[in-house]
Order: sequence, then C-alpha cells, then structure tokens
Amino acid sequence: MSLNHAELVQANKAYTLASWQAQKEWNPISMVRGEGVYFWDADGKRYLDWSSQLINVNVGHGHPHVIRAIQEQAARLTYAYPGIATEPRARLGELLAEVAAAGQTSGAAGQTGGAADQTNRVGLNKAFFTLGGADAIENAMKMARLATGRQKIMARYRSFHGGTFGAMSAGGDPRRLANEPGVPWVVHIHDPYTYRSPLYRGRTAEEGDQALVDQIEETVLFEGPENVAAFLLEGYSGTSGIIQGGDVFWRGIQGLCDRYGILLIVDEVMSGFGRTGEWFGIDHYPAVRPDLVAMAKGLTSGYVPLGAVMVNEKVAGYFEDHVLWAGLTYSAHALACAAGIANIEVYRQEGLIERAREMGKVLRAGLLELAEKHEIVGEVRGTGLHQVIELVKDRGGQEPLSEFNQPLSRPMQAAAASLRQDGLSTFVRWNLIFCCPPLVITEAQIQEGLAMIDRALEAAEQLLAAEQQL
Ligand SMILES: Cc1ncc(COP(=O)(O)O)c(C=O)c1O
Repeated sequence: MSLNHAELVQANKAYTLASWQAQKEWNPISMVRGEGVYFWDADGKRYLDWSSQLINVNVGHGHPHVIRAIQEQAARLTYAYPGIATEPRARLGELLAEVAAAGQTSGAAGQTGGAADQTNRVGLNKAFFTLGGADAIENAMKMARLATGRQKIMARYRSFHGGTFGAMSAGGDPRRLANEPGVPWVVHIHDPYTYRSPLYRGRTAEEGDQALVDQIEETVLFEGPENVAAFLLEGYSGTSGIIQGGDVFWRGIQGLCDRYGILLIVDEVMSGFGRTGEWFGIDHYPAVRPDLVAMAKGLTSGYVPLGAVMVNEKVAGYFEDHVLWAGLTYSAHALACAAGIANIEVYRQEGLIERAREMGKVLRAGLLELAEKHEIVGEVRGTGLHQVIELVKDRGGQEPLSEFNQPLSRPMQAAAASLRQDGLSTFVRWNLIFCCPPLVITEAQIQEGLAMIDRALEAAEQLLAAEQQL
C-alpha cells in the first residue's frame, strides 16, 4: 500500500489523535523517508529539517551506522526484562559515564572559573534507563525526593519537562494549565528572561541574574529549605524560547544548592548530545555540578525511544542500601540501548559535538544578518545549533508579533506558510521560529535554510504592514 500525501493525511486524521491541538486544526506534513538533513513527503516534496523533528534527530535521518546497529541487535536480542543484565545496557551505561565526565575536560565555552570549577560532573556515572524524556524527569524527581527525604521540587515557569503528570506540573509552559491541579509539590520560580522580564529592566544581564537569584533564595526560604528536594532546570532552555541565564544565574543556583542542601536536577532531554555545541547544555557553565541529569532525544536521535537519568555518587550511594522505588517494563530495552551506543559512536567518530559548535557560528551569523535586514526580528537567542528568533511588531516597543499562549497572529501564519511552501520544516510557536537542524548540517544547507527564513520574514512583514495600514 503506497498512499499519496492527501490519502496519508486523511488516514492519519481518521484513525489517530494528534498531540497538543484541536484535531480539526491538524494539517500535517507527511513523511515517507529521510536522509541527513532532508526528508520527503508522500508526493515526493523535499523538506529541509530545520528542527531535527522534535529537536531530537541529532545525527540526521537514515544514518547507516545506527541502522546497522539496530538491525544487528534485533537479530541477537531485542528485549530482556529490567532485572536481567545485558551487554548493550552495560556498554551504554559505561559510555554515558564517559561522556558525562567529558564536559569537565572540554574547556566548555570559555566561562570563568579555576580548578574548582572543573569538577562539574565528576561522579555522574550511573544511569537508570527510561523510555523517553518525561519518564526520565519523573524518575529524577522521584529519586531526588527519596534521597533527600524532602518533597518539593522548584522549577521554572518558562520550561517544559514532558507530558506526564509530574513532569507536566513541573514544566511552567502553558501546556500545564489544562491538566491542573497537577502534583502539589512543585514550586515555580521566575526566569532569566533578559529580553522581557521586569526584573531585568534597567539592569545589566548580570545584575538581573543576581536579582533573580536573590528572589529565588527568598522563595526557598518561604517554602522552607528543609522541604526543598531539588531544583529542576533545563541545562539549556528549549521550547519556552531558549531563555537561558548567564554565568551569574547558574553560579547563584549552585550556591543555593550548596547552602541549603538542595539537589540539582538538570534536564538535558533537549539540550544534550551536542545540540548546543557541547555534550550537554550545562557544560557551558563549568561551575555547576548537577546531582541528576535527565536525557532522551539525542541519546538515540529518535531511532528507538530511550531516556535515562544519570546520578552522581551521592544519589547512587543512597540507593546502595535503600530501595529504588522505580521501574518500567521497558527500562534498559536492549534494542534502544544498542541505538544509544551507535549514536554515541557517531557523535565521536564524526566529531559532531565540535561540528555543532562550528556550524552554530555560521547559523548564528546568518540569523544576525537577517536581524539587521528585518525590523521584526527582536532578538536572536541560543548557541550551537540551538537557536531561536523572537519576532516583534516594532523593535523599540518589543510588542510580540504573536501573543504568548494564543493562536498564531496572521503575520506569524504568513511566515509559517511561506516556510512550508518553500520546503522548510520547523516549529513556529507564538512569536518564535526555532532553528535547530541536525548536527550533520553543512554550511551550504544552512544558507539554504536561511534564505527560506529570509523569505518567511518578508512575508510576515508584508502582512504586518498591510494590517497596520488598515
Ligand atoms: C527539556 C525537555 N524535557 C523533557 C521533555 C519530554 O520528553 P519526551 O517527549 O521524550 O517525554 C522534552 C520534550 O520536548 C523537553 O524538551
């Protein structure tokens, strides 16, 4: 059976439900095969994958090394229940311990700090495997609560940690609101949003970061430090709009953890595995020492679902003689672990982490050029191949081109339509356009994508100008 695009969409809509939207509004692109940074729909139209699907296909589509590893593992052993020891599980755990330690020697991002700062993830060497990001977060929160005997988790408003109940409550993204009340032990904190937060108004980014940390400390005191198990923070902010604090923010959070005995859970589900030009987003802040790190997405680049929580010696030590009250039928699935091993081999053999750093500079330079040309670009944010542009009606007033948590405005719709028409697939959310291609992207392919973004910005500007004349 080989359906064309219209037939495929019709059949998908008839028999399946789509995430995060009213069903009648679902108007998907179809996809029948992918290669590198491109994929093709059922009518043969080619798309440049500018968001690595859900910011997870880091090694690109159809990578032969990963496919071969999955095929070979499938022929040998696909599944063993989680109480059984297997080779792919052990090997992947070992590789993860290696890459988790790699950040300390990578000279990450030229942040300030001496020898004491070079210890950020020493001892993060045990992994608990899950099926994806949300359940990695669930289990990280569970472990932090068990290991500390405290109940509260503090997380940011502008964050997303997954669609299960606990993770959803922890995320502050508006997707949380429809499922409230969620779990009662999450406390939300404000964001290092230099571009819009009132806390940063009239302050430098560093002063704003400090004011925010002071405010967070006050919140910790109001909540009772003895009740706070952990901070849960994305290592590098993602779908909320890549709103990332600076060194002062991150050092401040580490200081609060140290002062009040609070654990730090870093969510690397999106920012892990080279996305930001480092193994993990948090590598940009060498002074930070996570106790637990959640990962998924780039762990297998989506070839097989898999997530993990890595824990340091302090947390692992607690569970040496206390029961780890956590488990999943598909934990440490052999096929998924084989896909994870193959991905890490690809990252290493092809130098994809360094490549993301270099190509990220090309992407960022191109986006900054577009910002020069188009008044509607308010800010370009991000690092590596993890970039976003925030669009505004006018640069001085910073009025968003589309409102937070509202349907897309007509100019944003025009931008989205232009991208799709041109053959560029990415996320257009509120007033944001995400630019997060697979790490294998070349300079020429980046230029190809930038030309399409240029046309989309023009389309949005034309519509905005027409609206303003009315
Ligand atoms: C930072 C972050 N954490 C967790 C998740 C949830 O991951 P999953 O969709 O695999 O459950 C996501 C998904 O986008 C994410 O971006």
